[in-house]
Amino acid sequence: MKVLKATSGIFEDSFIKSLLSKMTIEEKIGQVNQVGTSIYGGKEEHYEKLVRNGSVGSFLSIKEIEKANKLQKVAVEETRLGIPLLFAEDVVHGFLTTFPIPLAESCTWNSELIRKTAEIAAEEAAAAGIHWTFAPMVDVSRDARWGRVAESFGEDTFLTEEFGAAKVTGFQGNLCNGQLDRNRLIACGKHFAAYSEAEAGRDYNTVDLSSYKLANVYLPPFKRLIDEGVLTIMSSFSLLNGIPATTNKKLLIDILREKLSFSGLLISDWNALQETITHGFSKDYEDAVKKAIDCQLDVDMSSLLYLNTLKELIHRQVINESSLDKAVYRLLSLKVKLGLFENPYRSSPEHYATIINKSKEYRETARQVAEESIVLLKNEELLPLKNTDKVGFTGKYLNDHNSMLDTWACKGSAQEIITVAQAVSEKKNKQYFILEDAYNDFKKDRSFKKETINLISKLDKIVVVLGEKATDSGEAKSKAILGIEQDQLEFTKAISTVNPNIIVALMNGRPMIVSTLLPYAKSLVETWHLGCEAGSAILNILEGKINPSGKLTMTFPRHEGQLPIYYNHHHTGRPYQLEKFNTTRYIDISNEPEFQFGFGLSYTNFSIDNMQVSKLKKNSWQVSIDVANLGDRDGQEVVQLYIGAKFGTYARPVKELRDYRKIKLVAKEKKTLCFQIDRDTFAYYDELFNKLVDAGEYLIMIGNSSQIEQKNMTRIEVEE
Ligand code: NOJ
Repeated sequence: MKVLKATSGIFEDSFIKSLLSKMTIEEKIGQVNQVGTSIYGGKEEHYEKLVRNGSVGSFLSIKEIEKANKLQKVAVEETRLGIPLLFAEDVVHGFLTTFPIPLAESCTWNSELIRKTAEIAAEEAAAAGIHWTFAPMVDVSRDARWGRVAESFGEDTFLTEEFGAAKVTGFQGNLCNGQLDRNRLIACGKHFAAYSEAEAGRDYNTVDLSSYKLANVYLPPFKRLIDEGVLTIMSSFSLLNGIPATTNKKLLIDILREKLSFSGLLISDWNALQETITHGFSKDYEDAVKKAIDCQLDVDMSSLLYLNTLKELIHRQVINESSLDKAVYRLLSLKVKLGLFENPYRSSPEHYATIINKSKEYRETARQVAEESIVLLKNEELLPLKNTDKVGFTGKYLNDHNSMLDTWACKGSAQEIITVAQAVSEKKNKQYFILEDAYNDFKKDRSFKKETINLISKLDKIVVVLGEKATDSGEAKSKAILGIEQDQLEFTKAISTVNPNIIVALMNGRPMIVSTLLPYAKSLVETWHLGCEAGSAILNILEGKINPSGKLTMTFPRHEGQLPIYYNHHHTGRPYQLEKFNTTRYIDISNEPEFQFGFGLSYTNFSIDNMQVSKLKKNSWQVSIDVANLGDRDGQEVVQLYIGAKFGTYARPVKELRDYRKIKLVAKEKKTLCFQIDRDTFAYYDELFNKLVDAGEYLIMIGNSSQIEQKNMTRIEVEE
């Protein structure tokens, strides 16, 4: 084995420079080529050849430790310089242990849990030989038609910053002497930038937006990730203001490298470099590569354009070799940070085996996150279930293992998912009845078997598990119709004619339109796609073992025509008034959402009042507010602080979340919460991404959702 040593900490720079000086152009080009295994039809024999030829620096989608180590051996022992490989993968919401989808996790408003699930995912994936995850996705998502909202932290920029940062810390940990711990992964913030603004919610579609919106909605989460030390960023597939993000100099140089001071590695999305030609932007392969190198796009994911074109372009002096060196430097720097030059085999089959055993213990965390992700949207006294209740459980997704795994499930297997039906049957409660076939029976001829009707009519309550399947959300899963599928709706209606005490547990990867369902659902629990402990978590909530505390991070529309819909919209010159014709409204439906951002019920009642603002010094305040649990059940509440500017250099949104606290209160307990506010609380960005704070009048609003009671609003004056 060729040994390359002395790589950590302060030696990193000289080590990489010395290695670079020994590399041929071909070896350098190989480093910046990432091979997604599917581009060679999954044929493994090709991979070894590529490695031996020095034509690949990193692989995507090799998830087995044996395979990874075998290829690593070829890289280290059979290539001239023995440079180790990197293995990348989309570890989005777990690796062996499948956690709730990110949208669900964001409804916990619990950064520590969000960090923890990333830490566990990193440990499991690292044991399988993976070094680099393409997560977190920090695309602020305001249009539920876009399938990738499932991978997002919802519609709010501030929350996306918070939860994105928590993920980066969980994946990467704290670097010690510039090195990542063996159990951690390199994180990747994606997709830079504004990918989620796709026109009409269709994936990969055109993005055209003002610099003001880019600066205030889409860039701040990336800034936060960079401040948090994220080592890599992925550019977006889409066109941004007429130029593909992958080759957009203004975006990648002026903003990312200069304004945001990102010095880490930038990777394209899958085949995006080649797609700059399809976009009608690059003339041909050479033009695309030249433009990408000018944008300091370091690694080409799976288009093979760098591999096939760069040498010739350097030879003809169209591209300077020093530009390639910069990209290779950044890639080698990741390999150094992983300690691969000292130990190219970060894991082994034996180590992996010990981690598999740990996954049992990690299910406990999976259940806790799942419980906190659930949002109680409506409750007409049916929940929590009582000990004496006779309850039927039915619905299309009652026992559907796959749907709870959801998009980007890595090695989580459907068999390991606890469905609602399984959780119920494990209870062995004689009062519980599983009506597993009722949905399929009904689908056949729109009727129930006689014994089913008899049973339903005798029960106290019926839990109907509805929603959309896992494959309805994620990449390329845009949808124009977000309502409940007709069969599922008819089924629920038919049950309600026999027994109106219906509790709906909704499983889905995006906000759905539930207006047609609400008349038949006396209680509605949003359960998302919750991962391996879905069934147990849902049952714990239904039974009241856990008091629901989730709060929506995406607005639920009433109608697709309202999309995009989000709480922090701007004022208009003619603000919405339902009854007034010439205001910002529809003539056929209301502007109001079905369920607002920040909303979520509990089995207890909380009061929020007695807001006091004290000025500590110039532009510094303390805001206190009393939160009381009025009921006789312990619970958690998310207290949210919003600001609203009266006027400014730019018009600002009607309200913006700026802080929140998730607190536990036992029955009848009351606490006073204190928020600190200073000048920075009111900061936003101009079109050039310069921070601004306007002096003037602001509203401070506190509540348990984005709809705030008048009594919890106070005006303050920010001075110059
Ligand atoms: C395409 C997706 O847009 C991106 O998020 C993902 O990381 C890559 N494919 C690799 O799987």
